[in-house]
Amino acid sequence: MKPKVALVMGGGAGTGRATALGFAEEGASVVIADVNEEGGRETLAQVQATGGHGLFVRADMSEAADVQNVVAQALQVFGGLHMVSNNAALSAPNKPVTDLSEDEWDRCMAVTLRGVWLCMKYQLPLIEASGGGAIVNVASVSGIRGEAFQSAYAAAKGGVINLSKTVAVEYAKRGIRINTVCPGGINSGGMAFYLEKMPEMRDRTLNAHAMGRLAEPREIADAVVYLCSDRASFITGHDLVVDGGIMVRSNVIDL
Ligand SMILES: NC(=O)c1ccc[n+]([C@@H]2O[C@H](COP(=O)([O-])OP(=O)(O)OC[C@H]3O[C@@H](n4cnc5c(N)ncnc54)[C@H](O)[C@@H]3O)[C@@H](O)[C@H]2O)c1
Repeated sequence: MKPKVALVMGGGAGTGRATALGFAEEGASVVIADVNEEGGRETLAQVQATGGHGLFVRADMSEAADVQNVVAQALQVFGGLHMVSNNAALSAPNKPVTDLSEDEWDRCMAVTLRGVWLCMKYQLPLIEASGGGAIVNVASVSGIRGEAFQSAYAAAKGGVINLSKTVAVEYAKRGIRINTVCPGGINSGGMAFYLEKMPEMRDRTLNAHAMGRLAEPREIADAVVYLCSDRASFITGHDLVVDGGIMVRSNVIDL
């Protein structure tokens, strides 16, 4: 059987890097796309160090030409595309909704929501032509409940969830499954940056999770790789919460 081809948009760090390594472990050739060349090349080196095959393509997922180029490279180098994680996102600065500028709102939307749409727009035809496959768009628990001072990000992630459900219906009979994974806090560079700037938020952030800790990137990546695999062959339009118990935790009783 020909090996499958996987793509990670935003594969240069954190969850994206762990997902690229997870796809490679499953035997897939992995296209790693990222705006950060250094991070993307490091992920490629790690994939190759495990004996896997991969390719790095510099791309900004809010730019249509970049996304088209990534898809063209997957076809040219590996002959198709079967599994995708659209993982990159950009949050806006932490601010009350009335203080957010139009530029801050637009930039967050351009990457986090419009970027996911652009990615699917250009990935779907190649996945279909390759015989079908699966896409996982990485959303967030912020997309299913309110997230004070992150109105743009929360709205964008909520959009990613419903966009994914909609596209899942459009492609259900065409051999392509589309799901989302909704992480809670992840022990990644983005989270480290936030907690460095706001150390007073560390304990509250950890305690928001019933498990009292953040996810390791691999714990989110495992859910993404599973949903992309044939083991999830009857799952589409699903929104898988992987949050260490944020969504089920009650604030009334502190355990
Ligand atoms: N970190 C968290 O606590 C957390 C919580 C919930 C959801 N998420 C979501 O999980 C996903 C991964 O988060 P993470 O913390 O592992 O990320 P990260 O910050 O560690 O890495 C994100 C990667 O995406 C790349 N990237 C950023 N903008 C890009 C663009 N326009 N085009 C291409 N690549 C781009 C970055 O260079 C980086 O390599 C994101 O969608 C994020 O919103 C994260």
